Amino acid sequence: MAHSILGLMRPLRRGLNASKIRLIFLCGVSEQHHSPAKWWSERGFSSTHGFQDAPAESSSEDQVTVHFINRDGERLTTTAKEGESLLEVVVNHNLAIDGFGACEGTLACSTCHLIFDKDTFQKLDAISDEELDMLDLAYGLTDTSRLGCQVCVKKSMDGLTVRVPMDVSDMRRQLEVGKQSKQ
Ligand code: FES
Repeated sequence: MAHSILGLMRPLRRGLNASKIRLIFLCGVSEQHHSPAKWWSERGFSSTHGFQDAPAESSSEDQVTVHFINRDGERLTTTAKEGESLLEVVVNHNLAIDGFGACEGTLACSTCHLIFDKDTFQKLDAISDEELDMLDLAYGLTDTSRLGCQVCVKKSMDGLTVRVPMDVSDMRRQLEVGKQSKQ
């Protein structure tokens, strides 16, 4: 339902350049921010390497427990701070979700695709047209899909469980392949 209503508004917002939208502004936190070069070199589009500059510990009152069900069914449980995006949670805690967040939250890849339960999904903040556009291209799209880089953690989400879809697509790579095939 939310998808269809917002879909009608897309033409009004087509002029926005999605690549300029950063998760850092979305969630309103002055969190660490990684350069794309560092992102790729340390992350290497896999989950085996972590960042060196993990954020400082916060008090337990600020902590929200989040569970990620990985592609192999493994449950990855961690604590998040209110205001972090789910992408930041994965990165900051070096969770072993392969290929997650390849575009660093610039709405250019859909590798941060996550599936929510229906109740939680309905309580999430409104979805933007840019996120909808990218979700349309994600593999395994469901009625309760969102992009993790666009969902901010709230205290009310304590105990949240999200599922990582089986397949992942990085739209930047597909676009690149398309360009090359035309040459
Ligand atoms: Fe690329 Fe979310 S990290 S769209």
